[in-house]
Amino acid sequence: MKKTLIFLFSLISSLASAQIKITHGPYLCDMTTDGVTVVWTTNKPALSWVEMAPDDGKSFYSTEQPKYFETVAGRKQAHKTLHRIRLSNLNPATNYRYRIFSREVLNWNAGNNVQYGQTASSNVYSKKPFLFKTYPDSNERVSFLVMNDIHGRAAFMKDLCKDVDFKQFAFVCMNGDMANFIESEEQIFKDFIDASVDMYASETPILFARGNHETRGVFSDSLIDYFPTQDGKTYQHYKVGTVSILVLDGGEDKPDSDIEYNGLAHYDAYRAEEAKWLEKVVQTDDFKNASARIVFLHIPPYGDWHGNVQLKKHFVPILNKAGIDVMFSGHTHRYSFHPKNEEVQFPVVVNGNKSYVRCDIDNNKIRVEVVGEDGKSVQTLHIN
Ligand SMILES: [Fe+2]
Repeated sequence: MKKTLIFLFSLISSLASAQIKITHGPYLCDMTTDGVTVVWTTNKPALSWVEMAPDDGKSFYSTEQPKYFETVAGRKQAHKTLHRIRLSNLNPATNYRYRIFSREVLNWNAGNNVQYGQTASSNVYSKKPFLFKTYPDSNERVSFLVMNDIHGRAAFMKDLCKDVDFKQFAFVCMNGDMANFIESEEQIFKDFIDASVDMYASETPILFARGNHETRGVFSDSLIDYFPTQDGKTYQHYKVGTVSILVLDGGEDKPDSDIEYNGLAHYDAYRAEEAKWLEKVVQTDDFKNASARIVFLHIPPYGDWHGNVQLKKHFVPILNKAGIDVMFSGHTHRYSFHPKNEEVQFPVVVNGNKSYVRCDIDNNKIRVEVVGEDGKSVQTLHIN
């Protein structure tokens, strides 16, 4: 009994005295021409900030750099371990350097009487600051990489991409089913985010397109917190240079009443709501004036499962009139290419679960290369 008490006491005191640490990240998401969101976690609640400087050849410490905080209605957030800080009012196509800081909140008992502890940060002594480039607002050339259906195989993903130079890409699209289920924070980091941070995501942004498996699990509704968007929606329209990018969310693949969803699915209504948004987006000048139009949608609009049929019903008629150049999908775990036809009037590239897609757009010329294990080219397509 005495031994147990001593053990518990030493465990409690070591936990209490454990230093604040950055536990995951940082990674970038929701990149635009004028901003980006930096995300990381700490082992203890903290007041966090990002210090940022243009990449102008001067020392990061040549002057005090501006600090960016996560705020809610004018108040800095200091009670959280998940930190999501929007860097805004940036210039397009510009390189910026950044460092992250988290000041531990030791106690917060009453009012604003916060007692702070130590500060954890990205390595400010022996490593260069992280570097990113905002999206351009005029360039017609864009390159990006797409992965999907990794289903938690982080080691496989790293091996698949071992020879990839991510710096050349405007973004990396996670096009769905990066995990089997969304059960906890630790699980999503282990399944695919930590590996992405190791490879590229502190400097090259993630474009997150939800897959049907990511709608499953007790932590699923929190996933958007880890890939925040400015309007909180899982479907988005981005402009990278003159290229329009649509990120669509196809929901689940079976009828909402399916036994597998255990009464939780409501995707017919969600897809209908999303279609209303899509109808408006494709009418905007920003979209209509694009030099190329790309769509990411995890479930392809082919096949006869309920999800596929719903996508054909809600999304395809709008997209058929919108001048889409190519759609990237996954879900089937097998590569296939569907040329445009009467029903789906744009080509669809379905990437498998053992390959990535590299896409290079120059004006309206689109080169798509599907690359498998050991860098072997599976297919190269020239669209337009
Ligand atoms: Fe899927």
